[in-house]
Order: sequence, then structure tokens, then C-alpha cells
Amino acid sequence: EHTRIIKLDATDSTNVFLKELLQSSGPLEDYTAIVASKQLKGRGQMGSAWESEGCKNLTFSVLKCFDSLRAEQQFLLNIGVSLAVCDALEAYEIPNLKVKWPNDIMSGSFKICGILIENVLKGQWVQHSIIGIGLNVNQERFENLDRAASLKSITGHFYDLDGLLNQILEKLQGHLDAMEGKTMAQLLPTYEKHLFRKDKPSTFTNADGELFMGFIRGVSSTGKLVVELEDRIFKEFDLKEVTLLY
Ligand code: BTN
Repeated sequence: EHTRIIKLDATDSTNVFLKELLQSSGPLEDYTAIVASKQLKGRGQMGSAWESEGCKNLTFSVLKCFDSLRAEQQFLLNIGVSLAVCDALEAYEIPNLKVKWPNDIMSGSFKICGILIENVLKGQWVQHSIIGIGLNVNQERFENLDRAASLKSITGHFYDLDGLLNQILEKLQGHLDAMEGKTMAQLLPTYEKHLFRKDKPSTFTNADGELFMGFIRGVSSTGKLVVELEDRIFKEFDLKEVTLLY
């Protein structure tokens, strides 16, 4: 409730808008949120684009500052944010919610939400984080997107965007406030319980585009994906090194 929400009709990217606002206005309150009805240049992970039909979905960014989050613990944020979104969606009875490492939110085998966390470091510390969330809500068609879906395309219901936004912001605040001072060891078990395709035979590609098989076994203390390639042969991957195909 005390969160400051700034609503825009259109902007290139709410992550960029929030970053620029922070530069021009100086410090902002934690959980200040920028929400746009439409993004003209929505950004995804690893330099990809985020496509989202205007006025039908949620595209927003949230600021969180830290005073004692170490850079090597950055993955705590991926955990906190993805579990907060799952938690918020659970109230809407979205079936089979999972987190595809590091932080795509899935319903069954469909991606319904993408998250782009941009951390600003100061030496060994995370100074603040711009948390961008794109949730597909009422969009009906996903023409160029493989295996994308929205809440409406899954449940058939229409959702009120403001209600959903408030629910997510509330959960985000709860999870991220609770996260400070916690360790990976404390938070990993819940994250791994939600991990998409855990312990299932899966196909991946590596950075060279080569296919390989393995079983996702979990996530390391630094946030890398742990895959069992062959019986008891484990390998850890970071985001640039692996793509889970199915
Ligand atoms: C991904 O799955 O690749 C991450 C997508 C993140 C999209 C959100 S929409 C709001 C915020 N602003 C952006 O430009 N991107 C994030």
C-alpha cells in the first residue's frame, strides 16, 4: 500500500525508465514501481527482446536497495523475486507453477512471466537492483513465441491488471524484506522445490549450439544450474553456457 506506483502509457522499457529516474531524481523509496501500459523496446535476458501486447499484460519495474547483500549472493534475488511471483499467482489458482532456472515463471510447459533483474554493484556489494517483471495476463495470441502463454490463455478467465500488480508488489516486498540476512542454504530448498524439470530427463544446448542430455539436480550456492550428465557426473552452468530446450 505504501508503495509508490508511477503509471505510464508508453515507454521504451520500464527498467530503463526507472534507471534514468534514479539518476535524475536521486534516491527513491524501496519498492517504487514503474508500470507501463505498453513498452516500445521491452528487454529480455541476454540481450533478447520482450514482446507484450499493450494494455493486456503487466510490464513493470521495481527498485530495491540493499546495505548488506554481497555480490556473490546475487542469486538470492532471483530466488526471492521468482518465489514472490509464484506466491502471488498461487492465490489465482494458476495450475502447476514452476520456476525455470534462473527465473522464468512457467505454468505447466508454458512460460507466462519473464524477469530481468539488473543489479548495480559497488565493489563487493549489491547497491541496488532494478527488478523488471513481464507477466502475460490477458493476451490471447502468441504468434512468434514458442511455448508462451498468458493467465487468460491457460485458465480462460480475464484478470484485473491493477489487482494483480498490487498482489505481486505485496509479495515482492514480503519475500525481499525476508530475504535480507538469509543465506543460499536457507532459501535454496524452497526454490528447488519449484524448479522446472527437476530430476526429469532433459535436452539442453551449450554455448556452441550442441545438444546434450542430462537431469537438472538443483542450483549451486552461487546460482549455477547443476546438471547430472551421466551417472554421478555433474556439471555446473551459468546462463551464457546452457539453454534448456525440453
Ligand atoms: C526474459 O524472460 O527474458 C525477461 C523479460 C523481462 C521483461 C520485463 S517487462 C518489464 C521490464 N522492462 C523491460 O524492458 N523488461 C522487463
